[in-house]
Amino acid sequence: MPLLSIQNLNTVFYSKKGEVKACSNINLDLEQGEIVGLIGETGCGKSVLGMSVLNLLPNNARISGKIIYKDLDLLNLPSNKMRQIRGKEISLLPQSPATSLNPVVKIGSQILEGFQLHRGMKKDIAINSSIKILNLLGLKNSEKNFKYYPHQLSGGMKQRILAAISITGNPSLLIADEPTKGLDALMKAQVVDLLHKLTKETGTSLLLITHDLKVASSLCDEIAVMYSGEIVERGSAEKVLNNPYHPYTQGLLKSMPEKGLHPIKGYSPSLLEKLPGCRFYSRCPLRNNKCNNSEVPYKEIDGTYVRCFGFD
Ligand SMILES: Nc1ncnc2c1ncn2[C@@H]1O[C@H](COP(=O)(O)OP(=O)(O)OP(=O)(O)O)[C@@H](O)[C@H]1O
Ligand SMILES: [Mg+2]
Repeated sequence: MPLLSIQNLNTVFYSKKGEVKACSNINLDLEQGEIVGLIGETGCGKSVLGMSVLNLLPNNARISGKIIYKDLDLLNLPSNKMRQIRGKEISLLPQSPATSLNPVVKIGSQILEGFQLHRGMKKDIAINSSIKILNLLGLKNSEKNFKYYPHQLSGGMKQRILAAISITGNPSLLIADEPTKGLDALMKAQVVDLLHKLTKETGTSLLLITHDLKVASSLCDEIAVMYSGEIVERGSAEKVLNNPYHPYTQGLLKSMPEKGLHPIKGYSPSLLEKLPGCRFYSRCPLRNNKCNNSEVPYKEIDGTYVRCFGFD
């Protein structure tokens, strides 16, 4: 049984302009200890998918489908139960270290609060655990770092502190939303190393949302590619990143700087727009008549799931 199973998930926002379908019929499983990367261009619904799992969406959102974590049906869990799970069992490593830490609280206190809150530790034990976790994250002079305020630390340090806070509850699942965005190469390498250690040493599963395909390829076991609210391809990272089937994944890879920076022509359709067929149709170099008329089923090709008529 997978640790997390997302089944037919739909997340819709009701806005003045209409219904924004940010996640459409998403099916995705995460096994214990597995790292699954979620990639796709900006606005395709990656963060909304992560927030749907955590049940952290604004009031104008409606979620349907099923999210099964261990044997719990998360979408039907009472909010007090969900609060116990969020931050402890399923934790978020947020995108922006600059705004996610409390600027007026010493970072040590922010970490030990996590231990006290999630594991009910007494203060002296929580301090010891916090220092241990900082050591594990490769922060030297941990006791000294403990007394700093966030503004006294570099971006990479802050990112690691956030990572420390996100694992104080010893989570089974960590959702990391763009954990390397805006970091220089050295810091990026440190964060990648850290996430690798975290998952491999503690058995935590990781849903990694990223634009950085290099980071995805160095960390992920599996990759899911999202386009306009849908998962269009899903399979082993090795296959999806080196041998993609879906024309969108192929285009996305070609648009990377290291592949010559050839962007896909056109725009992705608005999530307000209901379309009868493939949402990539208007941009697809391989489109045929069938593609914009009927719902596209998933096909399994050599262990990869692809949502495309091109393989009939
Ligand atoms: N509260 C909301 N009301 C209406 N639409 C929303 C709301 N929150 C998000 N959206 C829409 O949902 C879509 C998906 O957004 P999301 O933040 O998940 O994209 P993303 O893939 O994470 O993009 P990025 O890579 O830029 O972070 C966007 O079109 C966004 O405008
Ligand atoms: Mg996002």
